[in-house]
Amino acid sequence: MRVAIIGSGPAGFYAAEALLKRTDAIVHVDMYDRLPTPFGLVRGGVAPDHQNIKAVTRVYEKTAARPTFRFLGNVCLGRDVSVEELRQHYHQIIYAVGNEADRRLGIPGEGIARCTPASVFIGWYNGHPDYRHAKIDLSVLRVAVVGNGNVAIDAARILLRPPAELEKTDLAEHALEALRNSRVREVFILGRRGPEQASFTPPELKELGEMEEVDPVVLSGELAGCTIPESEGGSQQEKNLKILQSFAARPPAAKSKKLHLRFLVSPAEVIADADGNVAGLVLEKNRLEPQPDGTAQARGTGEIEVLDIGMVLPAIGFAAKRIAGVPYDEKARIIANEDGRVVDPASRAVVPNEYVVGWARTGPQGLIGSHKPASAHVVGHMIADGAGLEARALPEPDTILSLLRQRGVQVVSFDDWKRLEEVEVARGARRGAPRDKITDVAAMLDLLGQH
Ligand SMILES: Cc1cc2nc3c(=O)[nH]c(=O)nc-3n(C[C@H](O)[C@H](O)[C@H](O)COP(=O)(O)OP(=O)(O)OC[C@H]3O[C@@H](n4cnc5c(N)ncnc54)[C@H](O)[C@@H]3O)c2cc1C
Ligand SMILES: NC(=O)c1ccc[n+]([C@@H]2O[C@H](COP(=O)([O-])OP(=O)(O)OC[C@H]3O[C@@H](n4cnc5c(N)ncnc54)[C@H](OP(=O)(O)O)[C@@H]3O)[C@@H](O)[C@H]2O)c1
Repeated sequence: MRVAIIGSGPAGFYAAEALLKRTDAIVHVDMYDRLPTPFGLVRGGVAPDHQNIKAVTRVYEKTAARPTFRFLGNVCLGRDVSVEELRQHYHQIIYAVGNEADRRLGIPGEGIARCTPASVFIGWYNGHPDYRHAKIDLSVLRVAVVGNGNVAIDAARILLRPPAELEKTDLAEHALEALRNSRVREVFILGRRGPEQASFTPPELKELGEMEEVDPVVLSGELAGCTIPESEGGSQQEKNLKILQSFAARPPAAKSKKLHLRFLVSPAEVIADADGNVAGLVLEKNRLEPQPDGTAQARGTGEIEVLDIGMVLPAIGFAAKRIAGVPYDEKARIIANEDGRVVDPASRAVVPNEYVVGWARTGPQGLIGSHKPASAHVVGHMIADGAGLEARALPEPDTILSLLRQRGVQVVSFDDWKRLEEVEVARGARRGAPRDKITDVAAMLDLLGQH
């Protein structure tokens, strides 16, 4: 059986692991990635000051070392190879392309200079080739990060953490330089709903109160009326509320930086100065309206406040990008699927032999570990659907490589990646960091002697 997996993030690697561990069939996996480097958001999203999380790549390396696994880096589905071509060369296809598009606030002023999706800031400090030239101007004193999820926390923490602590991480060199010269002293994390609805995970929230130079500020008025029933072991909401209450109870400290956690406010307009840069953010205060399904929705009260800030980073979620030939669910902004089987979005008819895992299947929810059982579940469908498929004769495995080379695509193998990694690790050692990332695709290919 020959399977193509598109995307080398956690979901793709866990799917490969489940396929390659099959004892009832010999499966050959070709894993494609549009970048020459593997591991998706583990490399390009996970915060540099959370290096322990990145150790998960050792598990993926074991999968990559299996004899029936090939990595085809620097190959983009929809640009270098088409879905139709993959269908000709493989018995089954898995899309594991993540969520690489942003969601928009949809307010006036969004998109002016210094109003940048948090994903751009995150890609920039993580050395993602797409964002190495992003304009991140840290000459401002105050920044608003919109959203009450862990991405908002990551962005705020990196903005406020002392650069000396980041030096020993794999934060991109260009970002380190900019953060050393940063004037940012105050960050506002803005939630449109209340503390009970925040999706922060408690360890990440707690960490905000542990930074040496940073004073967390919570308005006790915005916690008033918050009641979360106590449960055994304590729910995420309960733990978050306790942490926020402890922040609110702290006496004001004379620390040099402040992190404000605000609730029940929605951005209504980004204000520009004469040069077209962000000069403020209009906020509307919200109240919560209970819904029949037990959730609570934010409703504007008409009460307005203007926040004096010089940069806005919306961290309000992601969406899957459209790829030519891959069915797309316009409403959910994911690859159209029923429990991981790709379907036509209109008729819901199953597209045979095509599957989707990870964020491309569910939208941007879930931690790295959650993809292991989820991808294995989808592989279960592939096994159930795939009986007898291997009887279909396919072109020789190297034909796809020849096709790509004819097109001038320089395919990066896993061994090539390990050579790049060696260079990164050696460069990183100079500043005591685990690696200093190469952020330019052309430079990577040059190093491999291919470009
Ligand atoms: C900023 C941030 C920080 C996070 N931090 C943590 C954390 O600390 N701990 C944790 O547990 N979870 C964290 N997460 C969540 C975790 O990263 C995700 O759950 C996980 O990465 C999703 O896996 P995925 O494989 O679906 O997508 P991704 O990891 O995004 O991988 C998708 C891959 O597909 C490739 N690709 C996309 N389009 C194409 C194409 N057309 N052709 C070829 N290849 C393509 C991409 O290059 C990428 O390598 C974080 C998420 C973000 C956004
Ligand atoms: N350290 C870590 O473990 C780590 C780090 C980063 C990311 N992750 C994981 O990655 C996933 C994605 O994280 P995320 O932070 O992007 O998503 P998230 O947890 O879904 O948070 C998105 C936030 O944006 C808000 N929002 C959405 N639309 C908005 C709008 N129009 N105006 C104002 N606010 C809006 C949401 O509010 P509502 O709730 O009101 O919709 C929510 O608070 C999560 O599973 C997260 O745990 C983990």
